[in-house]
Amino acid sequence: MRVLLLMLLSFSVTAGSPEKSAIASAHYMATEAGHQILAQGGNAFDAAIAVSSTLAVVEQQSSGIGGGAFWLLHRAKDGKNVMIDGREEAPNAAFADMYLDENGEVNRDLALNGPLAAAIPGEIAGFEHLAKHYGKLPLSVSLQPAIKAAEEGFPAYPRIIKTIERKAKVLKRYPASAAVYFPNGQIPKEGQLIIQKDLAKTLKAVAKHGKAGFYEGKVARKMVKSVQKHGGIWTLDDLKNYTIKERNPITTNYRGHQLVTAAPPSSGGIAIATILNILSAWDLTAMNDDEDRAKRIHLVVEAMRRAYRDRSIYLGDTDFVDVPIQLLTHPYYAAGLRAGISPHKAMPSALLPGINDNPKGEDTTHFSIIDTEGNMVSATLTVNTGLASGFIAEGTGVLLNNEMDDFSAKPGEPNAFGLIGDDANKIEPGKRPLSSMSPTFVFSEDKVAVLGTPGGSRIITMVLLGLLDYFDGNEVHSWVQKPRYHHQYLPDKLFIEKDALDLKTIEALKAKGHEVVEHKGRWGNMHAVSWNKKTGEVDAASDPRTTTGSAMVK
Ligand code: GLY
Repeated sequence: MRVLLLMLLSFSVTAGSPEKSAIASAHYMATEAGHQILAQGGNAFDAAIAVSSTLAVVEQQSSGIGGGAFWLLHRAKDGKNVMIDGREEAPNAAFADMYLDENGEVNRDLALNGPLAAAIPGEIAGFEHLAKHYGKLPLSVSLQPAIKAAEEGFPAYPRIIKTIERKAKVLKRYPASAAVYFPNGQIPKEGQLIIQKDLAKTLKAVAKHGKAGFYEGKVARKMVKSVQKHGGIWTLDDLKNYTIKERNPITTNYRGHQLVTAAPPSSGGIAIATILNILSAWDLTAMNDDEDRAKRIHLVVEAMRRAYRDRSIYLGDTDFVDVPIQLLTHPYYAAGLRAGISPHKAMPSALLPGINDNPKGEDTTHFSIIDTEGNMVSATLTVNTGLASGFIAEGTGVLLNNEMDDFSAKPGEPNAFGLIGDDANKIEPGKRPLSSMSPTFVFSEDKVAVLGTPGGSRIITMVLLGLLDYFDGNEVHSWVQKPRYHHQYLPDKLFIEKDALDLKTIEALKAKGHEVVEHKGRWGNMHAVSWNKKTGEVDAASDPRTTTGSAMVK
């Protein structure tokens, strides 16, 4: 399989360089930080550290140094594509049934809130790895914008204020969390500065000592002490032993386009490859008119249903379980799945062989970068659900993730995203929980696309719909705006964003047997950049669904 992957990875972009750099992220201060570092002589990988660390300060509801990330990299000089896996890892004392109560039921509070929900973070180890192996600048330079933002504060904005309101009860349990998120004892008002002095100190320790400034020494001791005091199970060894892993991305072809996307422990790349392999037999672009729209959506949804079924059965951390990657991404396997799809009728999920809502996009974040050398980064970062475990370790400013909930706490039992799983994704010490984060590159004859989004279980289908829009010939602004629909095998429902589909299409989908559920709101926060290799032009776009997104070509 390794040989096959290497063969698939051997293509490279053959073209001149982009005329300018492009960055799209979920917050204007992060996009600005990335461009600032490029202007100081950094490359896309240094900029990725600046964007990630600034998001960790100003968009803590979505990602942070107490969380993890996948950075998908393309290095222009040798065409290397690699996924830096900075995913969180279960602590050594973790065990399969750790969230089950005396009746064998999952204790959702323990799985989601407080330090027992937190896996060992990976983001800081990722920064050091990126700087050492791919960047040009030291961390003391690329972390500067984040340190400044933590020290001097950033203005509160509606998305973070809403998440603080939703998570208020949990945040109030922990004094260090309350001190940051309730300045003067109140939920911050729009524009009020959120200042994080402890976080600035922790970032400075990393700027000075690299990864050791976080995983060892004073910061590590403070985190472990605070975690254990509040019922968590981290040890100093858990932190010291955390390492970054380089993964071969998942690659696939779709009607002449070459895709490079997330490897396990993400499920995203495999699911997207399966879906596109199934769909490759149909000319979806020709099904965009009023007459055929329902037919197109029906086929896409049937492919989604099957890929998420496979996710629930087969996928987990490949360091612990054998994931049949070659099978699941093979065109002949997809042909078998396709053969079971009726163009006229929805297949109930219960009829598919296999095991037996509704977060939006506040969890997780994504950014995309192209620099003038043609280096690219597609990065999705997370602390899991909005404001994560709600627990800041005293004296460190580090808000801990609640990524343990991405494991399957009990076979067949839905997690916070309604996703079910089996043994492949059960909790084991040192294992990384299965993710849906799907940072992706597409290399086409004349164009390159870099895209991704937050949104829990819907990340995969949002990236897929962005890709289909790109394959239809549309530009970056269209991919991020496109109305969204989603099917994840179970629950057996076709979710659509508010006003995503017209009545006629909805009726046609119902007639095919789909239970269509229209959401009150919209979901996702996609940030994408593109490069036209013929003209050298680059472009960037941020999802219009949120207010702070920032896409800038410079
Ligand atoms: N925590 C969301 C994901 O990794 O899929």
